[in-house]
Amino acid sequence: RPPETMWDRSAVAPSRLAAWWPRTSWSRKLQAAGQTFRALCPPLSTFYFFFAIFVVSTIFHCHRRLALVPAPWASSALVVLAPTHLPLEGMFTINAIGRLGNQMGQYATLFALARMNGRPAFIPESMHSTLAPIFRISLPVLHSSTDRQIPWQNYHLNDWMEERYHHIPGRYVRLTGYPCSWTFYHHLRPEILQEFSLHDHVREEAQAFLRGLRVNGSRPRTFVGVHVRRGDYVHVMPKVWKGVVADRGYLEQALDRFRARHQSPVFVVTSNGMAWCRENINASKGDVAFAGNGLQGSPSKDFALLLQCNHSIITVGTFGIWAAYLTGGETIYLANFTQSNSPFNMVFKPQAAFLPEWVGIAANLKQANREAPSP
Ligand SMILES: *[C@@H]1O[C@H](CO)[C@@H](O)[C@H](O)[C@H]1NC(C)=O
Ligand SMILES: *[C@@H]1O[C@H](CO)[C@@H](O)[C@H](O)[C@H]1NC(C)=O
Ligand SMILES: *[C@@H]1O[C@H](CO)[C@@H](O)[C@H](O)[C@H]1NC(C)=O
Ligand SMILES: *[C@@H]1O[C@H](CO)[C@@H](O)[C@H](O)[C@H]1NC(C)=O
Repeated sequence: RPPETMWDRSAVAPSRLAAWWPRTSWSRKLQAAGQTFRALCPPLSTFYFFFAIFVVSTIFHCHRRLALVPAPWASSALVVLAPTHLPLEGMFTINAIGRLGNQMGQYATLFALARMNGRPAFIPESMHSTLAPIFRISLPVLHSSTDRQIPWQNYHLNDWMEERYHHIPGRYVRLTGYPCSWTFYHHLRPEILQEFSLHDHVREEAQAFLRGLRVNGSRPRTFVGVHVRRGDYVHVMPKVWKGVVADRGYLEQALDRFRARHQSPVFVVTSNGMAWCRENINASKGDVAFAGNGLQGSPSKDFALLLQCNHSIITVGTFGIWAAYLTGGETIYLANFTQSNSPFNMVFKPQAAFLPEWVGIAANLKQANREAPSP
């Protein structure tokens, strides 16, 4: 597993500081001051005793009040202190379930619905740890011990906006579900783009990769991010949802459309099944770069690459949908990838997931019969 250089470097910094500190003349001056003080102040053990109590209680107090959030140097989010009184006007939060794409959907939906209902929004700690290392999110975080004390009322959301979500009843509301639909937050698009803007070091790493790409010896002007979702979906789509993931035919059509519409584009392929991509995406034209580390546990690199491209080709899953939504260029998506009797149709509305201007290419559903387990 390749090291995540930025994090490692940041993590090293404080210990280097500690090593540097005692060697300065300050420590000698402090010692001298201590000797003077000792001469003036005989009951030294009493002093140390109270000082120790003071230090311990301060640490204890801070520990209680400050939310413990990872990597604070990378995060611009406000950290919430445990409030002594809950806001009387109530508050909204949302469940943090699933991986990056799901949690981005939950974050943006909370952001929009809290605004719509005139309530302050707070995110759970686990959502902050997923999103804050990558994005400059701004919603305050709820310390988990406070979270547990709040008398939340759960409120389930479908994956599309409904009229009744304008007036959500209850004072302390925890939204639940897997909402990831532009119908909740598209009217706030500029703010959503701001919330999901990348930290400088994440963006710079992706830019450095793109700067190194060449098509026929020259630097391409048009970058097309390609996200090929595989992994568990290869089995989940046919078995649970009576559907398919993207096949080589879809990717060939999608790439060819961009080749026809743009001069020498380069395709930046990210996937959690990179071996499959190398076998199934024809790279003989020299315009395909297999990129990203494909590690599900550290998706920031892949996501940043897609975001720095100008256009998107996506397959299935919220990761790709978010990449395309934030990139904002031309988008090709896999359409109609489940059979008509699929239970997926109960929880997913294509018109609420894909923007109207995106271009769908219908999936080859015959694949489903081939990949599905025989009855
Ligand atoms: C690169 O150059 C070769 C030879 O001139 C050409 O056949 C090919 O189409 C070019 N590739 C791209 C992506 O422009
Ligand atoms: C890949 O595309 C080239 C044309 O660019 C074609 O000649 C070749 O047969 C293709 N390879 C495969 C394995 O389809
Ligand atoms: C396309 O993306 C590249 C890489 O991020 C960027 O430098 C360039 O300005 C973009 N082009 C347009 C027209 O936005
Ligand atoms: C998907 O199916 C619907 C309903 O049959 C159809 O209207 C639509 O055109 C299809 N989309 C594509 C991209 O083929």
